[in-house]
Amino acid sequence: MDVSLEDIDSYAQQFVESVPKTKGKEASVVALEGDLGAGKTTFVQAVARAMEVKEHVTSPTFTIMQSYKTEHPVFSKLVHIDAYRLEGEIKDTIGFEDVQRNPSAIIFIEWPKNILQLLISPKDVRTLIFKTVDETTRNITEETHA
Ligand SMILES: Nc1ncnc2c1ncn2[C@@H]1O[C@H](COP(=O)(O)OP(=O)(O)OP(=O)(O)O)[C@@H](O)[C@H]1O
Ligand SMILES: [Mg+2]
Repeated sequence: MDVSLEDIDSYAQQFVESVPKTKGKEASVVALEGDLGAGKTTFVQAVARAMEVKEHVTSPTFTIMQSYKTEHPVFSKLVHIDAYRLEGEIKDTIGFEDVQRNPSAIIFIEWPKNILQLLISPKDVRTLIFKTVDETTRNITEETHA
């Protein structure tokens, strides 16, 4: 779907509504794929608004992982990971495995391939693919697993 900056909040709102209303046993994990500047962080910021996060959400480029408290009835914790700077053999220095065991967490991961080795339930991950269409438009599609 083509999404401009004007549309990103309603897109994120619909995404939040699409996540199951009942708690699973583990965190929900959403992988965000796409080139530099494709709109991954902007989407997470819109999700944070939809979940009524009060704090300012910035790109976790250096911190790798950031957590925010939400007002969402199921997911009280929004976790934002930017794995861009992770490379080589990944050790869990950020506590990623622990947060995956928290059923109240929803975790969004930019550059997910850099942290795949630490996923505890890879087959349950939802993937959104971001593509730059032009200066004012991004295309966002959900990868469907066969
Ligand atoms: N849906 C959108 N429509 C139009 N412009 C957008 C959209 N999403 C993001 N942008 C613009 O693209 C630029 C980069 O966006 P953003 O930082 O979200 O990309 P990113 O995918 O997180 O990149 P990186 O991989 O470097 O972290 C910003 O200037 C932002 O305003
Ligand atoms: Mg980003």
